[in-house]
Amino acid sequence: MFTLAFAFSVVLSVLSDSYIIDNTGGLGRQFDGFGAISGGGATSKLLVNYPEKQRNEILDLLFKPNYGASLDILKVEIGSDAQSSDGTEATHMRTATDQNYTRGYEWWLMKEAKQRNPNIKLYGLPWGWPGWVGWNLYDTSDQTASYIVNWVLGANATHGLHIDYVGIWNERMYNVEYIKTLRKTLDRHGLVDTHIVAPDNFHWDIADDILADPELAQALYAIGSHYPTTRSTPTAVKTGKRLWASEDNAEVNWNRNYVNGNMTGTIVWPLIASYYEGLPYYPAGLMTASEPWSGYFPEPTKIWLAAHTTQFTQPGWTFLRHGAGVGAFKYGGTYAALVSPEGNDVTIIIETLNDVSDLGSPQNVTLQLKGTIANISQFNVWYSNTETDEYFIKKPVIQTVGGLVNLALGVNEMYTLTTLTTGNKGAYTQPPPSKPFPLPFTEQFESYQVGEEPFLFSQQIGAFDVVKADAAHGNVMRQETTQQPVTWCTADWTERPITLIGDITWTDIYLEVDFRVPAVSGAPDGVFIASRVTEGGCDVTLAFGVILYMDVRHQTFHLAANFLLNQIITEGNFTYADGWNTASLLVKGLEATGTVNGKPLFSTSIPSAITAGFVGMGTRGYGLADFDNVNITPAQDRLNRMEMMKSGSNSLLP
Ligand SMILES: *[C@@H]1O[C@H](CO)[C@@H](O)[C@H](O)[C@H]1NC(C)=O
Ligand SMILES: *[C@@H]1O[C@H](CO)[C@@H](O)[C@H](O)[C@H]1NC(C)=O
Ligand SMILES: *[C@@H]1O[C@H](CO)[C@@H](O)[C@H](O)[C@H]1NC(C)=O
Ligand SMILES: *[C@@H]1O[C@H](CO)[C@@H](O)[C@H](O)[C@H]1NC(C)=O
Ligand SMILES: *[C@@H]1O[C@H](CO)[C@@H](O)[C@H](O)[C@H]1NC(C)=O
Ligand SMILES: *[C@@H]1O[C@H](CO)[C@@H](O)[C@H](O)[C@H]1NC(C)=O
Repeated sequence: MFTLAFAFSVVLSVLSDSYIIDNTGGLGRQFDGFGAISGGGATSKLLVNYPEKQRNEILDLLFKPNYGASLDILKVEIGSDAQSSDGTEATHMRTATDQNYTRGYEWWLMKEAKQRNPNIKLYGLPWGWPGWVGWNLYDTSDQTASYIVNWVLGANATHGLHIDYVGIWNERMYNVEYIKTLRKTLDRHGLVDTHIVAPDNFHWDIADDILADPELAQALYAIGSHYPTTRSTPTAVKTGKRLWASEDNAEVNWNRNYVNGNMTGTIVWPLIASYYEGLPYYPAGLMTASEPWSGYFPEPTKIWLAAHTTQFTQPGWTFLRHGAGVGAFKYGGTYAALVSPEGNDVTIIIETLNDVSDLGSPQNVTLQLKGTIANISQFNVWYSNTETDEYFIKKPVIQTVGGLVNLALGVNEMYTLTTLTTGNKGAYTQPPPSKPFPLPFTEQFESYQVGEEPFLFSQQIGAFDVVKADAAHGNVMRQETTQQPVTWCTADWTERPITLIGDITWTDIYLEVDFRVPAVSGAPDGVFIASRVTEGGCDVTLAFGVILYMDVRHQTFHLAANFLLNQIITEGNFTYADGWNTASLLVKGLEATGTVNGKPLFSTSIPSAITAGFVGMGTRGYGLADFDNVNITPAQDRLNRMEMMKSGSNSLLP
């Protein structure tokens, strides 16, 4: 007997590495949650008009507890009408006296999230600012803080939403005095439970300021750093502040954020890739849903990696100490154990997800349970393997033997060992098949509420929403931004509001749009309609396309090959009627034809390099302009129709 037992333990010690899981002698830091970002910018745009069934399933998969990603934190953009990665999001204050808390879709998203999980934390952060706030916004810190506090107050007053966290300015300079002013302004409005996370930039330098300034330390709830590659700094740790990866990759590496960097919160970008394929960073995020017309979404896999953490922990649980339940395995991967506030539930999250810097190999590990954790007789087990495409599988329970748990770990695996029995892989029905954007497409905007953003129009510069026009036109789409925002990227500097629609692979398209520019000072010089637009996001300034710009002041037109309108293909005059006008642009092969109010403007060849892209429309200069009766048809269908009309009318001739 003795010999056998001895032999067994020798084998174990040779083939298995031991890791201690021990809650005696104190715990580590408190866990603040795992979340995701909607915005920065317009990343949830196409989710809004998904078929209701799929939309609810997607929202359940993201937010419902014990269902899918079951997120703890939803961070949203505080819109500014400025381009912030994949589009612009609406500001709640277009002028210093305007306040409107129904624009855009982040309010809707936050309510959907709260409805599913009343405990989800909400976090707002601006990427840009409306122009009236001004570039010296830290010098006018009272006004700037009021702009943010208004958003927090509006969330409560209009939507019954409590905002848990606000930030300073995404990935831009922070300002210590402004942070203090924001804290005081929040307090003055009784918003003591709305905490400040800063600076949302790429380093931890604010830690020095915090150590030197008790008032700043007091004002800040957490230090948030972006894409920290799992590392913080000793100075950041020394502040004693909560450390967050307040924007990180949607590859779920949060275990390492705590193991390597003492970070207790991870928020990934973006929540969902609900923006057109062809816009920057497509398809980043926890899942993808960019076909509202079909309802299709690809099988979400990353949400199940998130579920390994979120379904078996809550903000307020506590990590064990490094070396006593938190650490790295010898041959790659990490483990992190957390205990519930009452101390009676334990979750151990194990991952061997490789990254380039950490090439792991299979390994046998033994977890040595100590303290009260040694009393646990069995663990429920959830398993994923990103190589074999197995996600969030419930495995047979593991019985602990003499306070030991043995696991044979492969690479690219995740395990959750937990005393909780609530884990659940939420079900959803097979979504409809993928389909291209359906053509022909017409939009008269009549089905929208005034103030809504048209669903499929993906604004890249400026803000386009629905207003009521005259009796003849009813609802129309209006470009609303009248002043260049304080920008997050240089796209807005072109002062050329643009909205995109359709498919970046579209080639031969007939486009017809009604437009008008009010004869008021501050109105834009003219409007453009475009095909084959090759870029969006911050790079929209680099876009090529076939762009018909109509200067209504000078009644001249330019057909340009680029968004900046300096590669002119042809130009000339046209007659702009007061009020509504109709422009058309037919692009087929290497030919383009344009008309205004039925009068031909040009029929010309176009550069062969400009082969495909989105349809777009917009204005030159900020200021109001209206668009209506948008008609997008395959060019050949239009030509066939014209041919039929011609022969049809001929046949009526005697
Ligand atoms: C909204 O504000 C009121 C007044 O300050 C407060 O009593 C209430 O709790 C707030 N509601 C939410 C959801 O934060
Ligand atoms: C931070 O992490 C290190 C390991 O990287 C650990 O030794 C240390 O105890 C942690 N500090 C805090 C305050 O959690
Ligand atoms: C793990 O242990 C088993 C025996 O239980 C052994 O066959 C295997 O080679 C070990 N794997 C590694 C990677 O050490
Ligand atoms: C753990 O087990 C020991 C020995 O059976 C017992 O004294 C102790 O109360 C248990 N602790 C918990 C938290 O169950
Ligand atoms: C906000 O804007 C919408 C659309 O223009 C409008 O219907 C609504 O009345 C406005 N709300 C407020 C409070 O001004
Ligand atoms: C446009 O009209 C102006 C004045 O009516 C004329 O001088 C000019 O040549 C025209 N330009 C083109 C390209 O036709």
